[in-house]
Amino acid sequence: MTDQIGPEELTGEEEILVCTCMQSRHWPYCDASHHTLGGGKEPVVVSLDKNKTYKICKCFKTKNRPFCDDSHIK
Ligand code: FES
Repeated sequence: MTDQIGPEELTGEEEILVCTCMQSRHWPYCDASHHTLGGGKEPVVVSLDKNKTYKICKCFKTKNRPFCDDSHIK
C-alpha cells in the first residue's frame, strides 16, 4: 500500500479551469466553489493541445501547477 497520490492523465481537452482559491473539492479543477467560499479569487484558464496527453497533479506538491512534475515521487 502506498500513500502517494499520482497524477491524472488528461487527453482531448482544449482548456481547463484551474482553481486558485484552494477551496475546490476537485482540485486542481475549479468547481465554482470560489463563488461562495473563495474570497474573490477566480480560476485560471490553461490552454491545452487536445491531441496531447497531460499528467495533471492531484497531490498539491507540484511546482508547475496544474501539471505533474513528479514531486509525488520525491
Ligand atoms: S473553485 Fe477555486 S477558483 Fe473556482
